[in-house]
This record gives sequence, C-alpha cells and structure tokens, in this order.
Amino acid sequence: MKILILGGRRYLGPRLVKRLIDCGHEPVLFHRGRTNAPLPVESPIREVIGDRNQQGVLEELVAQERFDAVVDTLAFDAAGAERAVTVFGGRVDKYLVISSVACYGRLLHVPANENHPYVDSTRAFPMPSNEYSVGKRDVEQVMLAAYQRKGFPVIIIRPSVSYGYGRLFSIWGYSNRHVSRIRAGKQVIVPDTGEGLIQPVFIDDEAAIVERALVTDAAVGQAFNCAGPVAVPLWEYFSAHGTALGRPVQCVEIPSLYLEGFDPMLCVRASQNLVFNHAYDVSKLERVLRFQQFTSLEDGLRHTIAFQDQWGLVEPSADDPDDWIIDGYNASKVIKPRQQGEQLRRDRDYQLPEKSPLVTWAPDQYSA
Ligand SMILES: NC(=O)c1ccc[n+]([C@@H]2O[C@H](COP(=O)([O-])OP(=O)(O)OC[C@H]3O[C@@H](n4cnc5c(N)ncnc54)[C@H](OP(=O)(O)O)[C@@H]3O)[C@@H](O)[C@H]2O)c1
Repeated sequence: MKILILGGRRYLGPRLVKRLIDCGHEPVLFHRGRTNAPLPVESPIREVIGDRNQQGVLEELVAQERFDAVVDTLAFDAAGAERAVTVFGGRVDKYLVISSVACYGRLLHVPANENHPYVDSTRAFPMPSNEYSVGKRDVEQVMLAAYQRKGFPVIIIRPSVSYGYGRLFSIWGYSNRHVSRIRAGKQVIVPDTGEGLIQPVFIDDEAAIVERALVTDAAVGQAFNCAGPVAVPLWEYFSAHGTALGRPVQCVEIPSLYLEGFDPMLCVRASQNLVFNHAYDVSKLERVLRFQQFTSLEDGLRHTIAFQDQWGLVEPSADDPDDWIIDGYNASKVIKPRQQGEQLRRDRDYQLPEKSPLVTWAPDQYSA
C-alpha cells in the first residue's frame, strides 16, 4: 500500500515507517520539517513538507497524487477531523487515526473494552490533559459519524501510554531517572500505595498493530484499544525494571498530593492520573486484526534500557528531586492522616470493638 503519514518524524512515526517498509509498503511523510527524528531505514523515504493546518496544502497534495491509505498522527480536535473528512473523503481506501485511550477519561470499569463510554465532564482529567482527552473524543465522534453517514473509511487506534527506544515514563512524565535510582540502590517513589493499574504498550507493537489494521478490511469503521499484554500496578511496573536490570527495587509510598504540591506541572500526572486504574481489554486486536505477538513488559524494558544505555540517554540521579521529596516527607512535621484519625479517636473517647464485626456476624442469626 502507498501510505501517507500525517506527521511521522517524532516518536511513533519512525518506528511505523520501519514497520511499513519491512512489510513491503510505501510510506510517504507529510510534516513541517521542524521535527526530525532519524528514520531507522536504509533508503530515504519521500517526505512532503507542509503545514496540515494551512488551507489548500493537503487538498493540493491529494489532487495530484493517489494514496491507498492515510495514517493521521495529528488528530487533536473536531475542526481538524472535519477538515480531514472533507479533504480525504472518497479519495483513500483507509483513514487510520491515532486517537488515545484518554478518550475514555477516568475509567468506570476495568478492563475497559472499546464500548466504554467516552469522557464527560463528570470524569474530567485535570487541565490540560482534559483538553487532550475531550479533543480525542471529538475527533472520533466526527470520524465515526462520517463513516456512518457516507462511508468515510475510518479506523481508530487508541494507544495507552507508549514506551521504547528513547522513551520511558515515571511519575514525572517522560523521564528515566528511576533507572539510575534503581542502579544506585535508591528508593523509587510511587504515589499513594502505587496500586493504580497501568498497561504500557511497546512502541514497536503499536507500529505493528497499525500495520495490521491498515491491511484488515474488517477494521474499517472500528476502534481498537492498543495497550500492552497486561495491566500492572505501578509498583510492579518499577519492579519489572528491577527484573530487566537484575537489581531489587524498593518503592516508597508518598502521598500523591504531596507530589503535586511539590511540582504541580509534572507530578499532576502522578497525583491525578497514576493513582487511578488504566486497564484495557485488548482481545479485539487478536479477534479482528490477528495480532498476537505482544512484547512482554520485561522484554520491552530490557530492550529500552539497553537502547538508552547505548545512546547515553539515561538521566543521572545525583542531586535528584526524588531524594528531596523522600527526605522532606519523612522529616515533615505535618500531622499525617493516620495520626489525625488516632487523635480524633482519643478526643472523642471512641471505644474500639474487640473484634471486627465480620467475625461475630453469622448467617444463622437470620434463620431463627
Ligand atoms: N506517546 C504516547 O504515549 C501516546 C499515547 C496515546 C496516543 N498518542 C498519540 O500518538 C500520536 C503520535 O504522536 P507522535 O509524536 O509519536 O507522532 P509522530 O508522527 O512521530 O510525530 C508527530 C509529527 O507531526 C508533525 N507535525 C506537527 N504539527 C504539524 C502540522 N501542523 N503539520 C504537519 N505536520 C505536523 C511533526 O513534525 P514537524 O514538527 O516537523 O511538523 C512530527 O513529525 C499523537 O496523536 C498522540 O496524541 C501518544
């Protein structure tokens, strides 16, 4: 297939280009020429330089040349989606849009399958993440409506947080300082109890899923969760780094609001996102796309850390804000919630029960 990628030179793009070439397709990139991540392929790829938001540019391109499919990595709002439908409607066989599981907002049930309700204001993320999730929802609604109304051949891929090569994430967003901390035997911070579930997807798996969707006719008009093989608690995500590094990992629980207080820009992700569950049903990938070859979290991390070591990308953990936070919280004179509860008990002279009510309660009390 001849495939126009809107974007393509930052993160997903280069891995997708490699996958498409390996599978015998012909990718053509369209971007402004500002971001230039290296493309991991032997021969140069055709690149068209232009701004997607500039009136007439994409119109001219599709008037001159036919593409079998488009991969849109730049869909962020309803207006952009409506333009895409106008420009590409009737001109391509497949229009694959990279959405996000953020379109669900905070989950009502886990694992969420593709029929989970979209985000609404009652389950909003904090700004600016909410703008992002609402934008992805609007993109999907515009494109699915166009599919139903006039057969616009949309395929929706909803990645969860992706990782691999130059990218790893932590409570600070995209940061790999925790790798240095584990190597140095330092503790790794988890917000609250660190039990919020996450399901990261290795970026090469994401690229493979996109390719499978492009060649599967039954994918048209459908949405697909695109997450890793398992959802794990955040503490287990860090433990899996330990497995990859051959080192033990000691997590330390810090209240998420303490983290947000320290850095409301970066740690808002920890306090308002990572303490909630993010777990997705990915069975549709196998059922419809026949995708099975998931990279395990341990293998993905091993590969990622080796890559980052090779290119000197691992951030040092000396003079690390995580140390200040751990020391600061441990030394803090602030009364902790547990101590406040104990104080209230003493103040109100509340008598503790001898046993948990669950022990004394018995069904035969109802049978008499
Ligand atoms: N990373 C995650 O965990 C995650 C999770 C869920 C969903 N997603 C979604 O994944 C998608 C892929 O992002 P990516 O950065 O990996 O994609 P990418 O295709 O590798 O890079 C984005 C490209 O868009 C180009 N671009 C930006 N504005 C443009 C414009 N106005 N006109 C033309 N080109 C423009 C950039 O190049 P120039 O600057 O040179 O134009 C760059 O090449 C995004 O939609 C994101 O929401 C990511």
